[in-house]
Amino acid sequence: MSQRFALHFSHLPLVQRILYTSALCVLGLGYAFAMIYIFASHHGRDGNPMLTVKDIAIAYGGTKSGTKLESALKGPMSAMLPADENLKIISWVLNGASEKAYEEEIKAVFDNRCITCHNNRNPHLPSLESYKGVMQTAEEDRGMDMFSLVRVSHIHLFGLTFIFFITASIFIHAYIRQEWLKITIIVMPFISIIIDVASWYITKVFEPFAWVVIGSGSLMGISFALMFFISLYQMWFYKLPDDVQMRFYCAVIDE
Ligand code: HEC
Repeated sequence: MSQRFALHFSHLPLVQRILYTSALCVLGLGYAFAMIYIFASHHGRDGNPMLTVKDIAIAYGGTKSGTKLESALKGPMSAMLPADENLKIISWVLNGASEKAYEEEIKAVFDNRCITCHNNRNPHLPSLESYKGVMQTAEEDRGMDMFSLVRVSHIHLFGLTFIFFITASIFIHAYIRQEWLKITIIVMPFISIIIDVASWYITKVFEPFAWVVIGSGSLMGISFALMFFISLYQMWFYKLPDDVQMRFYCAVIDE
């Protein structure tokens, strides 16, 4: 029975392996930055400096009790101002966020620390130039709004498909004795992307689904790491076992 094999890396011309290696290196770097970004934008929302399931639940579903302003000040915005000023804003919010106290002492902090980015000229960020603008972030935190979720969903669905399509097209040339294992590694990230994006929406209404967000994200990371390291290793350091090499040549002669 003749079986069609994907060419192994060792059968590919040098230039193709160099192209693959270059692409993998840049994708790997991109993946590392994506991990840093996820940590930086979500950690600390629940008060614990590590990235926790609770942080993810808050990012998508909101705290249900606190405000967006508080979650931002405890999380991604905490580096923008000294701790005492941070505390000052938070206690102002907890004490009812009165306009009088705002004018007297809080506005100055926003003006000094925040409005270089959060101003009326930047449509992508809530403006913190006025009491009204600040109050919009001091309402109950319901997490990421639908519009942002839809925006991030389409970016992820398109972007990740590109990344995994490229990575898997390279990994196809790796040799793995168990065909089903290779197929699983290739298919897993595509299934994970869909589950991941779906679980953002579900987490909004059902918090425990934050676990699924983390689980599917991890599966994607594991697939990527396997394809990345196996491909690079087999491309440059690995010699096909003799019996496989034999079967390969027989298949070529058969055709
Ligand atoms: C260097 C620019 C910059 C400065 C300075 C800055 N922010 Fe931000 N802020 C951002 C960006 C970018 C985002 C959106 C990305 C994110 O959530 O990490 C953001 C998000 C936020 C959000 C969440 C908005 C939302 O809709 O979820 C709040 C609230 C916030 N900032 C408050 C503040 C406060 C208060 C300060 C001052 C102490 C401040 N920021 C200073 C850039 C800045």
